[in-house]
Amino acid sequence: MIAPSKTRDDTQNVSFMGFVNDAASESELTRFLKTTVLGSTVVERGTIRTAIHWLHKSGVRSPQRLLVDISGITNVLDELDGLANVCEPSVQVYVIGDRNDVGLYRSLLQRGVQDYIVTPISAELLRRALGDGTDTADAVRQVRNGRVIAVTGTRGGVGVTSVAAHLARELANEGGRRRVAYLDLNPYNGNGANLLGLAGGNALVDVLSNVGHLDPQYLDRTLNTRDNRLYTLCAELEYTEAFAPDEKALTDLLNVLGQHFHYIILDMPSGGGALAAEAFANATLVCVVTDQSVHSARTLTRLMHHIQGRLRPPTTHIVLNQSRTAARGAVHTRDFTAALEWPVAVSIPFDGQAPLMAENLGDPLPSRSEFGRGVKALAGLLTGDGLVSSRRALRAGRASGGLFARLRGARS
Ligand SMILES: Nc1ncnc2c1ncn2[C@@H]1O[C@H](COP(=O)(O)OP(=O)(O)O)[C@@H](O)[C@H]1O
Ligand SMILES: [Mg+2]
Repeated sequence: MIAPSKTRDDTQNVSFMGFVNDAASESELTRFLKTTVLGSTVVERGTIRTAIHWLHKSGVRSPQRLLVDISGITNVLDELDGLANVCEPSVQVYVIGDRNDVGLYRSLLQRGVQDYIVTPISAELLRRALGDGTDTADAVRQVRNGRVIAVTGTRGGVGVTSVAAHLARELANEGGRRRVAYLDLNPYNGNGANLLGLAGGNALVDVLSNVGHLDPQYLDRTLNTRDNRLYTLCAELEYTEAFAPDEKALTDLLNVLGQHFHYIILDMPSGGGALAAEAFANATLVCVVTDQSVHSARTLTRLMHHIQGRLRPPTTHIVLNQSRTAARGAVHTRDFTAALEWPVAVSIPFDGQAPLMAENLGDPLPSRSEFGRGVKALAGLLTGDGLVSSRRALRAGRASGGLFARLRGARS
């Protein structure tokens, strides 16, 4: 069930790949490439749509540089989003097309496109846009950054690892060929890799102590994967060993990972301490997993103020997860959500089967299970694919009474 397998056959990047739609562009591009030292190059006939299809189907690593043709394409920005979904974030994209339009040019650059050349292209124009391949510093320049999603919780056992790990799996499986890195920041008892059916090891400690040498080859050797989409980094330290990464080590690691992964999921064992502060500082999105207890309402309030009190606070979603069966004396969902200052984004009911089975076998969640549906809804919310109307939950019911008063009191 646990496979340390690393697929290695497609880890080599092509330096340059071009998709051009007409014979004249093809011959100019080929002529230009003969005079450069760009390394291994591929030229195909077709538009940006062909490129998306090709990259999606072929399953190879993205090229370092990619040139696509938008001639005749009307919804260019949508196609660029589609392209971003099948490429690693570090790819440098160049665009050629038949529209001489300043507005288009500007919006292409805003999307991270390196340059736009109006057809007919010539070898000279290409040289000006792409250089001649000798500017290696430029070739590794980072263009787009993957998104860092920090998952934390109000108490142990609330479902942080289950949500984080299954979210990572969901993001890697949906929408093209997204690359996802799951980092278990619990260095002693992390069970995330196990839950994903991948081997553990101490790679997280290795990379955090070697942040000066984090090149793509080193990361490729170190991160664990089975499908070249979902990768894990975790640790299993001896209990006597201290875990004290250098200040900024996590930030440096996330900056490098951000060039190669669309999503980086941080499984946070606790919301406090230096490493957690660094995780929040680097997060674009935060998910706080909570159960519906008085203790969690109080902790959630403190955590939310802590996260939202940052200068540029990350978008934060509350996930209400019932990791235990409801018992007598438990807080009613309605009372809990009504007492909160923030809406609950996704609510996952108790699911006595799927999460535990998945954890024990290292298997994916059945998509029709309660937990599977919850994770899917969260993934949709984070990627903007779906809308979960969370304010409705907030507005639902206003109770009063002793318990409610205690929950309210948690805020002040
Ligand atoms: N909605 C749920 N229904 C049933 N069991 C759950 C649910 N969420 C989590 N669990 C179970 O609760 C236990 C603790 O979850 P885990 O994700 O390890 O929590 P944490 O990382 O916050 O400590 C696991 O055995 C998991 O399978
Ligand atoms: Mg955990």
